[in-house]
Amino acid sequence: DPGVLRHAGHSAGVSMQMERTSAGRGVRHCDKRAFFVADLGDVVKKHLRFLKALPHVKPFYAVKCNSSEGVVRTLAALGAGFDCANKTEIALVQSIGVPPDKIIYTNPCKQISQIKYAASHGVQLMAFDNEVELRKVARSHPHARMVLCIATDNPRSSAFLSVKFGATLKSCRHLLETAKEMNVEIVGISFHVGNGCLDLQAFPRSIADARLVFEMGVSGFFFPLPSTNQIAATINSALDLYFPEGCGVEIIAKPGRYYVASAFTLAVNVIDKQEVPLDPPESGSKKNILYYINDGIYGSFSCIFFDRTCPSPVLHKKPSPHHPLFSSSLRGPPCDGKDCIADGLELPELQVGDWLTFENMGAYTIAASSSFNGYQLPQIKYIMSRIWFVGAYMPIGFTLFLQVILINWFFYK
Ligand SMILES: Cc1ncc(COP(=O)(O)O)c(C=O)c1O
Repeated sequence: DPGVLRHAGHSAGVSMQMERTSAGRGVRHCDKRAFFVADLGDVVKKHLRFLKALPHVKPFYAVKCNSSEGVVRTLAALGAGFDCANKTEIALVQSIGVPPDKIIYTNPCKQISQIKYAASHGVQLMAFDNEVELRKVARSHPHARMVLCIATDNPRSSAFLSVKFGATLKSCRHLLETAKEMNVEIVGISFHVGNGCLDLQAFPRSIADARLVFEMGVSGFFFPLPSTNQIAATINSALDLYFPEGCGVEIIAKPGRYYVASAFTLAVNVIDKQEVPLDPPESGSKKNILYYINDGIYGSFSCIFFDRTCPSPVLHKKPSPHHPLFSSSLRGPPCDGKDCIADGLELPELQVGDWLTFENMGAYTIAASSSFNGYQLPQIKYIMSRIWFVGAYMPIGFTLFLQVILINWFFYK
């Protein structure tokens, strides 16, 4: 079983897998292990949408967000670049044939052995934000093409990266001069507005800062991207202003969640339940039920910790509108009190063996999960939804269309 369901839609794919899992076996005996359904068609659509929304920007997918094989192979086949944070991620994308010029090594603080690894594997494009890093690169990677990572001013993000990485504008001139003295080539500027950036103006502000550093003497430009058309429009107008077409600057983006969040749906099973007193006692709701499911915050729900998301379940068995709702909580399987997925959900009463699905589970879920307490990680079942609307993107090029066909062929051959 190659684990690929042909041309199924998201929810159809999830249901088909659930039926396969239970088929021919009584509920009591079957192994209802949690699993993901990953719709690679959704990833392809995101890629086409990206190229349309930001025609002058090349996407370099941030591997850290979700490094599952189907996603990486699909994006590689579509010709996307890759943002890798270390040797393991570089090795992963190179193992499927991604050429070194499609890789940017973005961690600004690298271990010397890993800088040498990048050098011996032809990866030249690398980020830095301090002088010590420049010295390490000068000694270990004579052909490095460095990108200066600048800090952004945007505390309105769910994970504000500039508390850890990024040179201040004040220090940039000194860093550029030091690089020149050391004969290290600086080819670009990068910034990250933070994960889940809500402030639209953070983009033009950072693009303007990048322009400022450019004036100090650099020749490339990079940034990461969230997902709305409104943000794309803001970015495009800032690019037109500060880096107009034909100015000779290549622009790349490093989107992670944009590509994968909506492509992955997680299906989990209720493995136990108990009634607990409400705290504080509430009138109206008759029961408060605690459900234990077979995945938790040490597994795919690690996104609750790392990404501050609040997953909300969809019931596989559709309840009748007359079923009463009860205050419900979800807990993961390990013997650990912190494994709390959700509280205060209003759900009809569920039974052991019932399936729950969680949508938008592709970003920072599998990537940050562990097998703590001996629990198995969910398998991934790939599907490829039809890409009907490719026609609407024809101006992007017939080549892309052919690439999509190639991916289909690759997965179903
Ligand atoms: C350097 C770098 N680039 C890109 C990304 C991708 O960000 P996102 O998944 O929010 O698009 C990250 C995520 O933290 C990052 O650290």
